[in-house]
Amino acid sequence: MIPLAVFGDPIEHSLSPRIHQLFAQQSGVEVDYRRILAPEASFAQQLADFFAKGGQGANITLPHKVRVLELMDKVSARAAIAGAANTLFLKDGVVVCDNTDGEGLVRDLTRLRGPLNGSHVLIMGAGGATRGVIQPLLEAGVSKLSIGNRTLAKAQQLVTDFDKKALQLATPEQSMRPDILINATASGHSGLAPVLPADWFTGHPFCYDLSYGKAAEPFHQLAAEKSCEMTDGLGMLVAQGAASFTIWTQVEVDFVAALTSLQGDL
Ligand code: ATR
Repeated sequence: MIPLAVFGDPIEHSLSPRIHQLFAQQSGVEVDYRRILAPEASFAQQLADFFAKGGQGANITLPHKVRVLELMDKVSARAAIAGAANTLFLKDGVVVCDNTDGEGLVRDLTRLRGPLNGSHVLIMGAGGATRGVIQPLLEAGVSKLSIGNRTLAKAQQLVTDFDKKALQLATPEQSMRPDILINATASGHSGLAPVLPADWFTGHPFCYDLSYGKAAEPFHQLAAEKSCEMTDGLGMLVAQGAASFTIWTQVEVDFVAALTSLQGDL
């Protein structure tokens, strides 16, 4: 049994134990994957105790994804670029922070749309979620990546920070015509869809929400009003889990099969 856990606060609704149980069944690799409720004040100590007692790997979720970088000695290149980590693993006895969220998004969009080469992706939102997926999308061959946000200065800051030719600011006045329109705002958690210019929907972009379940419903409704196809981020969640599972066990798993089982359960 490989001891694994997910740390967060709140944690009781995390689907990760179920997802990793599906990967374990699929691969025959036995894992003991637990939920650990970790309030801010005790998170660092709980994490240290977990690895001291033989923990082999962990997922990190809200609100610790950014802070965990300061607590660990080693940070992978992609976690450093994202400014956040969702996966911890052991290498030569040292805990390494990594980030599989962007890889999860790319895997799921590829499942839904085929290779992303040459596509124009527009992301609405300029917080941590967006920061984490910019580099993986560019590496997947996206030819244009536009970033919009309610507070435009924050989107401009991301464009400036990454300094990549394919990256541009999406202002409400510009005609955008994206192939894929991603909602990476936190608005769904307040029951709202982000306010978006009607023009951005005229080419009927494929719409994708990084949230899943109830939080994705407002954007789903908006996409339906604009006659656009829409998918929530459950596939991304399962795909980032698959990437983490492989890091911990060196075994490849089929995230689509696990996603299908999970959708049957929900
Ligand atoms: P995360 O780590 O999930 O990205 P975050 O860093 O707090 O969370 O960023 C939240 C993002 O959601 C921001 O882009 C925020 O827009 P602002 O920068 O203008 O605050 C966006 N957001 C939150 N509520 C929103 C709403 N009701 N409409 C549009 N955007 C919203």
